[in-house]
Amino acid sequence: MPTAIVFVASQKGGSGKTSCTLNLGVLAAADGKTLLVDCDPQGSLTYWRDRRDAAQPDTISASLPGLEQAIVTARTQDYDYVFVDTPPHNYTELASAMRLADFILVPVRATALDLHAAEATLKLAATMAKRTTVVLTQCQAPRLFMEAPSVRQARAVFAGLGCRVADQAIIHRGTVEQSVALGKSVGEFEPEGPSVHEFRQVWIQVRREITSIRK
Ligand SMILES: Nc1ncnc2c1ncn2[C@@H]1O[C@H](COP(=O)(O)OP(=O)(O)OP(=O)(O)O)[C@@H](O)[C@H]1O
Ligand SMILES: [Mg+2]
Repeated sequence: MPTAIVFVASQKGGSGKTSCTLNLGVLAAADGKTLLVDCDPQGSLTYWRDRRDAAQPDTISASLPGLEQAIVTARTQDYDYVFVDTPPHNYTELASAMRLADFILVPVRATALDLHAAEATLKLAATMAKRTTVVLTQCQAPRLFMEAPSVRQARAVFAGLGCRVADQAIIHRGTVEQSVALGKSVGEFEPEGPSVHEFRQVWIQVRREITSIRK
């Protein structure tokens, strides 16, 4: 399989890009050779990597303008999946780098301001005709097996915009923050916990979509 380039992008700060990159990246590494690329000068993904005991997934940093060369190298090294963690607030460089993506995952918190802010990233992705999926992050927990009203409202907004949304929402849980400080994914931190189940469901959907665009 050729290397799949997965951008995790949203110009809104704190939407969950780095948390999605590292948690989905660890799950992807169980399925194929996986590289995580930290393209955010804040270096959050690198902070996580530097605290990590496990060797996988490989994690490097690159500037957005330098990403193309990193991807060329990754292709020669037979990576199956490359996840790119992107910075917020850098429209110009992000717009230029996004042409390298095969698939764009857009993490969005289910609040009115976050939904509003997500539109800029979604429009950018749409101009490039890239397969794009929103994942709702840091969500209120379901009650009685019903998703929280804010999550249902967010789904309705994105449905109105014609955007694909991951079936599984990521719930706001302390383990997501605690695991990062230890250089772990949520599954490594709490293997039987609910968070890893949520990220796994998202990864299964992302993997299916990547496979479908390669047919
Ligand atoms: N599901 C979650 N539950 C609890 N906390 C979360 C969750 N997802 C993210 N967070 C926390 O929210 C904050 C922002 O998340 P994260 O760093 O992943 O976002 P980001 O989009 O990468 O931010 P930035 O735009 O600054 O790069 C972090 O403190 C992170 O630990
Ligand atoms: Mg980040």
